[in-house]
Amino acid sequence: MIRPATLADLPALTALEAELFGPDAWNEVLLRQEIEGPGRRFVVTDDLAGYAVTMSAGDIVDLLRIAVRPDARRRGLASQLLDEVLVGTDDASRMLLEVSVSNAEALGFYVARQFSVIDVRPHYYRDGSEALVMCRWLPGAARTGTATPHD
Ligand SMILES: CC(C)(COP(=O)(O)OP(=O)(O)OC[C@H]1O[C@@H](n2cnc3c(N)ncnc32)[C@H](O)[C@@H]1OP(=O)(O)O)[C@@H](O)C(=O)NCCC(=O)NCCS
Repeated sequence: MIRPATLADLPALTALEAELFGPDAWNEVLLRQEIEGPGRRFVVTDDLAGYAVTMSAGDIVDLLRIAVRPDARRRGLASQLLDEVLVGTDDASRMLLEVSVSNAEALGFYVARQFSVIDVRPHYYRDGSEALVMCRWLPGAARTGTATPHD
């Protein structure tokens, strides 16, 4: 079951962030801001095996995080979380994210879920590695006339 994150989830989420993202992990203060912040959507699986966070601004939805515990991967959990944060985004034109060029797992996931690379950000992460900016077009792109890969 997927549900909105609550403040009671903060200790478990903080531990999972540290395990999965090391020096780039969000601490408890940042996680709290993501749960309570404007435009945010923070969803978790009920057993806290996975979570996803988006921020909507105008017609753009940023996928800030999507993560699944290593022992729960390749069972479709991240796909379910992505589907959940896509609910209600029909008026938006695109979902954007940044991902490290060296994160093969995430790249495989995003490509499988219809994201494509649109830009590169050098020296984006603390270790100096670059980020790929990826985009998935949403239904609002057709209505607003935003350029799509088909143009
Ligand atoms: C990326 C991540 C969220 C994927 O979670 P997941 O629950 O394993 O993903 P799913 O089971 O929904 O995968 C759906 C599809 O994505 C692709 N995919 C997922 N993991 C992949 C991998 N390691 N290599 C290649 N393709 C992959 C596959 O096509 C997969 O379908 P399949 O299993 O039928 O082949 C997970 O690996 C993770 O938490 N990584 C660490 C955190 C991270 O880097 N997050 C992204 C940056 S915020």
